[in-house]
Amino acid sequence: MAKWKSVYIYYISGTGNAKACTEWIADEAKNRGFKTVVQQIDRLENIVFPSYEEKPLIGFAFPTHGFNSAPIMLRFITGFPRGVGNEIFLLNTRAGMKLYKLFMPGISGVALIMPAFILRLKGFKCIGFRPVDLPSNWISLHPGLKKKVIDSIFGRCEKIVRKFADKIFEGKKIYRGLFSLPVDLILSPVALGYYLGGRFFLSKTFIANYNCDNCGLCIKKCPTDSIKYVNNRPYWKLTCESCMRCMNNCPKRAIETAHGMAFGFWVLFSITNTQIILIIINTLHISSQLWWWRISAVLISILSMVAITALLYRIVHYAMRLKPLKYLIRFTSLTAFPFWRRYRHIRIDKSR
Ligand SMILES: Cc1cc2nc3c(=O)[nH]c(=O)nc-3n(C[C@H](O)[C@H](O)[C@H](O)COP(=O)(O)O)c2cc1C
Repeated sequence: MAKWKSVYIYYISGTGNAKACTEWIADEAKNRGFKTVVQQIDRLENIVFPSYEEKPLIGFAFPTHGFNSAPIMLRFITGFPRGVGNEIFLLNTRAGMKLYKLFMPGISGVALIMPAFILRLKGFKCIGFRPVDLPSNWISLHPGLKKKVIDSIFGRCEKIVRKFADKIFEGKKIYRGLFSLPVDLILSPVALGYYLGGRFFLSKTFIANYNCDNCGLCIKKCPTDSIKYVNNRPYWKLTCESCMRCMNNCPKRAIETAHGMAFGFWVLFSITNTQIILIIINTLHISSQLWWWRISAVLISILSMVAITALLYRIVHYAMRLKPLKYLIRFTSLTAFPFWRRYRHIRIDKSR
């Protein structure tokens, strides 16, 4: 006799990896006769929460961003109604690769531990968590993988996820995410840095190039409602989580990571930030050896990076009307080169 009457799975997915995992788990749940409810938490609208009388098993699936759970999922989990000892499971998708015949794993950081901890504080019991190494979608860093490699990684991961679901539904506990705990904990300061500053910088590295025909698809499909028209061109707000959905789905391949522009922002920020720190030290006569000053200097740097980047991004956005700048930005964007593939989950046809 199963412990649960229903299975609720909440997911967020930029390019389809976490969505595929959710579908595989839901499929296994239905096969076992559970009432199965799957919900995408995009834009956090129309979410149905389980009634705890139903004795639900609740799952959360999400991509890893900056060695942490995608921020939208962290916010969702933080706002989730308190539990009464209900059981939950977590699944994070990571940047999987394949080198020759070797499947390479991504790195979770605190992507599993953090949501598990928050949910524990909210009265839930975690009976399983697992990372899944689906193809990396971070095409700001590298071209998308080839279709053959994508298919091969998907084939492997489908088996892994279905087995995970099977064991969980049998009532077994699986903490596969703990295998890499030492490395994950060492990376926690980087996860914090990404959460506090890195993601805001990345949100300001996207531009729409001159292929953009204002079809509005990126705006309509953005899971965090972070793209708007400014000056009749798509403009990325600081709330963008770099999920890569817009860039990978643009029918005109008009969305780029502007590497040259981002480098320029970084140089200007570094110069300005050094001056800001020196002015504060000289005005307040602070010793740079003090521990509290060191922490404050890091926080001031993060804050000034976000502010300076946002300001420069707005200026460049308007200045893109100038043809030379438009071409300079386009041709210093690695993503503009034809060999820089986009990535989207391609569902494997089981009959193949
Ligand atoms: C901004 C960004 C940050 C990422 N950070 C990590 C990371 O820290 N560790 C990792 O293994 N993968 C990382 N990835 C890769 C994605 O987590 C991975 O490709 C995931 O499977 C994408 O899932 P989705 O298609 O459901 O969005 C990152 C991707 C992006 C776009």
